[in-house]
Amino acid sequence: MKNYIVFSFSQNKKLAAKLASGLGCELGEISATTFADGEVLVKAISDVKDKDAIVIESTFNRVHERLFEFMLLLDSIHRSGARSIKLFIPYYGYSRQERVSYFNEPVSAEVISKIIETAHYDDIYAFDLHHTDISKFFSKPLINLPTSDLFVEYYGNIIKDNNIDKKDVVVISPDHGANQRADNVAAGLGVDKIILDKVRPEPNKAEHLALRGDVKGKTCIIIDDIVDTGGTIASAARLLYSHGATAVYLGASHAVFSGHCYTKLKEANIKDIVVTDSIEKKLPRAVKVLSLDKLIKKVI
Ligand code: R5P
Repeated sequence: MKNYIVFSFSQNKKLAAKLASGLGCELGEISATTFADGEVLVKAISDVKDKDAIVIESTFNRVHERLFEFMLLLDSIHRSGARSIKLFIPYYGYSRQERVSYFNEPVSAEVISKIIETAHYDDIYAFDLHHTDISKFFSKPLINLPTSDLFVEYYGNIIKDNNIDKKDVVVISPDHGANQRADNVAAGLGVDKIILDKVRPEPNKAEHLALRGDVKGKTCIIIDDIVDTGGTIASAARLLYSHGATAVYLGASHAVFSGHCYTKLKEANIKDIVVTDSIEKKLPRAVKVLSLDKLIKKVI
């Protein structure tokens, strides 16, 4: 019989509270002190002895600080006698640096993974990792959980409630990296999928060149992992509308939403935006948020 306690230091406090309430268990208390020289002391205040700890922390928003904080927290929980520790990193920072793209670059995602691996935990999970290879940077692989079920349920309801014919719906993968996720959602909904070719003429700029497939008169659902500047989605939406799409929807796992991302999405005429709560930040009210708590409950 598990005796759960759920912690989040700063990035996923609402998700942690929701999970704890759903499990009917304690939400762990944490204390943090910053010393004059900038060092931090992060520790669990709650009693964790013989408990099964769940730590949820996205490495987002000054990623290096977040990383170090949860590593200290894990050490504190381990030393204080927790029976087991499951670590969830809903948004895995540095995941877009999983390979050498240009001369002399580091593989930053591997460096981060090796650091995380030195922490005390039994199992580690992330959601919709940018690239599955990141799991393999760990000697005991990180478990990469798909969020596609959440999006299938969400769009299934939209299709049903609006009496949309499934043959008029197409799932769009905005680049080759998103293809597997898009496939999963398309299969779950029982609709077609089209993959777009994306190029990046310079960092933080995305362009789509051509469309191979028919979107005339169709509702297009773009499925991506990370929405950061919004450039990828805006460019994809422009291409789809220019080929006669009736409406473009966006379903994304991680709402980084930097700078003027939302304005860009609105200007690109995205009709509906839904994301998960892997990143807790203030989003415009029109953006719907699907919680990962259900998926966490399923795996623990
Ligand atoms: C890239 O391969 C990712 O899957 C996303 O498409 C990308 O990170 C989105 O970035 P942005 O919103 O800045 O175009």
